Amino acid sequence: MSMFVPTHRRRILLDTDPGGDDAIALLWLLSLVKQGLADLVAVTTVAGNVPAHQTFNNASQLLHLAGYSQIPVGRANVDAPTPAHQATYIHGADGLGNLTATLPPATHVLATAPMAADLIIDCLSAAPGEVTIVAIGPLTNLAAAEHQSPGILKLAQEIVIMGGVFSCPGNITAQAEFNLWFDPAAAQVVFDRRRDGVVILPLDVTQHVRFKPEMAQQVAAAAPTHPLAQFLLNLVDFMVQTALTYRATAGIPSFLVHDATTLAYLFYPETLGFQRAWVQVETQGEWTSGETLLDQRAIAKPPPNAWVARQVDAEGLLMRLVADLSQVC
Ligand code: RIB
Ligand code: CA
Repeated sequence: MSMFVPTHRRRILLDTDPGGDDAIALLWLLSLVKQGLADLVAVTTVAGNVPAHQTFNNASQLLHLAGYSQIPVGRANVDAPTPAHQATYIHGADGLGNLTATLPPATHVLATAPMAADLIIDCLSAAPGEVTIVAIGPLTNLAAAEHQSPGILKLAQEIVIMGGVFSCPGNITAQAEFNLWFDPAAAQVVFDRRRDGVVILPLDVTQHVRFKPEMAQQVAAAAPTHPLAQFLLNLVDFMVQTALTYRATAGIPSFLVHDATTLAYLFYPETLGFQRAWVQVETQGEWTSGETLLDQRAIAKPPPNAWVARQVDAEGLLMRLVADLSQVC
C-alpha cells in the first residue's frame, strides 16, 4: 500500500549476479513495479557469485517465478576470465540456495540473448537521462558498455551500486568487498566516467541489514500458497545457515541483504545517510586489490565522484522491505 502516486515512475536497469541477496533485491523491485512505483526496463546479468551462464538462468527463473518473464535479460560474456573462486559457499552451488530445481524454468535463452553491454547501451541511448542503473554485482558489464560506447554511462540518470568498504573489514579479503574485488578495473572505469558521481552502498552499511527467518514467514503469510512464498522461506533458511557458518551476522540467525540497500536509496532515502567523497579503487595491490579508498585528510581534494552511504536505519529499511515483499506474491 503506497500513498505516493508518482507522476514519473523511476525507470531502472538492474545489473545483477543472483545470488541470494540479489534475489531479495529483484523481488523488492518487482513489488515496486507491481505497485506502479517503478519500471524495470531490463535485467543484465554478470559473473560474480556464480558463473555468468548461471546468473543469466537464475535471473530468468526468478522473473518467471514472479510473473515478469517479459522483462528482457542480457547476458555477460560467458568466456571472459574470472577469479578462480566465486561465492558458492555463501549462495549455494547454483547461486540461489540450491533451489533452482524448485523454480519455474528459465524462459530466456542464453545463446540468443542480447549481450549485457549492448542492452545497457540500447536502454541508455533510447532514453538519455531517464534510466537509473542499479548494479548489484561486479561492474564488468558497465565497464564493457563504456569501452564499447565511450560516454554511455553519463547517459544514465544515476548509477547506484552495492559495493566497496571503507571503515570496516572486507568480506572477500580483509580490505575488499566482493563486487569490487571481483573486477576492480571495471569499478575504476565506472568511478572515473561519471561526472556527477556514483551512489555507493558499501559493506559499512549493508553489514547491519540482517534479514531474519521471521521476516520471510511474515511475507509468506501474506500468500502462503504462492510458489514465491515457499521459495523465499527455503532461500532464507539456506542463506541464514551460510551466514552463520561464515560468521557474517554476529551469531544472529539472519543474512545480509546487501543488494536491497540500493532500492532503499531510490525509494526510501530517509533510511540512509550519505557522505560526498572522492573515491578510488585499488587495482594493483597484491593484498589490497579491490579496496575502496576515501581520503579523509584535511586537504583539498579532486572533484568528488561519489555519494557514499555511511549511516543506515536498518530496522526501518527492513520494515519497508518486508511490507513491499508481502505485496509481490
Ligand atoms: O559483498 C556483497 C555483494 O557480493 C553482494 O552483491 C552479493 O550478492 C555478492 O555479489
Ligand atoms: Ca550481488
